[in-house]
Amino acid sequence: MRGVIFTEMIEFVEEALGYEVADKMIEKAHLDNGGAFSQGGNYPFDQMVKMLTALSEITGKPPHELLFIFGEHLFSILVKLYGKDIKKAGSALDFIDSVEEYVHVEVKKLYPDADLPKFTTEEKDENHLVLIYESNKKLESFAKGLITACGNFFNEPLNVNDEIINETPHRVRFTITRV
Ligand code: HEM
Repeated sequence: MRGVIFTEMIEFVEEALGYEVADKMIEKAHLDNGGAFSQGGNYPFDQMVKMLTALSEITGKPPHELLFIFGEHLFSILVKLYGKDIKKAGSALDFIDSVEEYVHVEVKKLYPDADLPKFTTEEKDENHLVLIYESNKKLESFAKGLITACGNFFNEPLNVNDEIINETPHRVRFTITRV
């Protein structure tokens, strides 16, 4: 998993919950590198799971809730970096629908070692988008946070329903509706 995800997560915990909580999380997670991630590096996904589990134990919040908030937060970072390009998609549903065939394709060109999920569009019209998310990382709550924040960025609040439809490979159906 790309280092930038780790550095953003630690920074987010520092800002939202304080340095003490961030330090506790790193200590509790027993990370191989003691929490010294570099943005350009690539690290095993289990290090993320360890941080998330530690944070869940410290805060008493379930991992899916933390992942959702982190996804929402990360979208605000993406807006700061690529807001103009994101706006060009025209609508939240069009942007979300372009992640598989455009956004993540560009990410893969820049970072060939990126390990990205697979999204397949099942249905799409002006007010709905049905997507299948496939990834054994099981980060659907993180995706849900990104999608929700994307709707808010376009001033198009979205209702996002997620339903696990397969265990291995892990597949989730997202039914996204404009509200
Ligand atoms: C609403 C829009 C988006 C959604 C729903 C989405 C979803 C995801 C998810 C769920 C992952 C975690 C990997 C997995 O589940 O297997 C991921 C990883 C990633 N995405 Fe996106 N993404 C979105 C937009 C973007 C944008 C705009 C960028 C950059 C311009 C981006 C860059 C990345 C990168 C760098 C990774 C990490 C890959 C790795 O760790 O190896 N994504 N994305």
